Amino acid sequence: MTTERGQHIAVLQSEAIAALNIKPSGIYIDATYGRGGHSGLILNQLDSRGRLIAIDQDAEAIADGEQRFATESRLSLYKRNFEALGAVASQAGVLGMVDGVLLDLGVSSPQLDTPERGFSFSRDGALDMRMDTEHGESAAIWLQRVTETELARVLREYGDERYAKRIAAAIVEARKNGSMNSTAALADVVKQAHPRWDHQRHPATKTFQAIRIHINRELSVLEAALTQSANALTKNGRLVVISFHSLEDRLVKRFFRTVDPYKDLPRHLPVPTGFQVAASFTLKALGKKMPGAAELAANPRARSAVLRVAERVA
Ligand SMILES: C[S@@+](CC[C@H](N)C(=O)[O-])C[C@H]1O[C@@H](n2cnc3c(N)ncnc32)[C@H](O)[C@@H]1O
Repeated sequence: MTTERGQHIAVLQSEAIAALNIKPSGIYIDATYGRGGHSGLILNQLDSRGRLIAIDQDAEAIADGEQRFATESRLSLYKRNFEALGAVASQAGVLGMVDGVLLDLGVSSPQLDTPERGFSFSRDGALDMRMDTEHGESAAIWLQRVTETELARVLREYGDERYAKRIAAAIVEARKNGSMNSTAALADVVKQAHPRWDHQRHPATKTFQAIRIHINRELSVLEAALTQSANALTKNGRLVVISFHSLEDRLVKRFFRTVDPYKDLPRHLPVPTGFQVAASFTLKALGKKMPGAAELAANPRARSAVLRVAERVA
């Protein structure tokens, strides 16, 4: 979606804020600052005793926060991967005291809309795809060295790409003739290799999604962040996650089920005492929300969004 550069169009924004059930004097973590849409709304509901810790692995996001909230003493910003959420909470002195954690996953509109970041097949730019450009390997470098088998696995597992083998072979063939270092070059190779083009969706959509998930280790960092978020919460603290593809949502759903001792009990029955799970915390899933028709019509990025919320009960 084209946006004014620098703006992020949030999905399920008011639903996420409502799900956090904000207490004016509470402590909150926005683990995906982006352009501060959610952070701003959380701060609006906090009084002078409240605190907000905001995390983002993207240096541009943090620079935005430092500028936008320069005089905001209730906010602390951390340029970190949220897989280190526990360490950040510890450093901020709030471990086990947090009233709400928000994870609004995926990439921001400014990341997508900046061609040099390499996330978009519709704008030509360097094939980078890292949310944190100071660490890790860019997509261009990875595509230079990956084996055809490994590439096909990534396209199949993270992109659910039916033609994974064919596309992987085409990429490996194309790189012999020069490096695969621009988004347009990659999109073109995929387009040529893809036997089906339905004109609704660019044939490189799934390939770009898969490579991005791989490059940013999106599933393993999410898994780490879920456990650490639950651990950082105080009793009755809320964990709110907005995910944008089924792989993420499945992981969140499974995590909430694993640490929800009430999951198999009828909702109206009292909870038996001594009902424990292996984790050092107990979460209760409170439900999920999806965007309504108006949001879906206004923002195509909302298409696959799912918000899930859980509360720490012990
Ligand atoms: C969808 S945007 C969040 C938008 C934000 N809620 C707002 O209202 O502006 C996702 C943001 O999370 C960041 N992000 C994604 N994965 C991350 C991770 N593992 N660690 C830290 N930040 C991450 C991205 O860099 C991006 O800025």
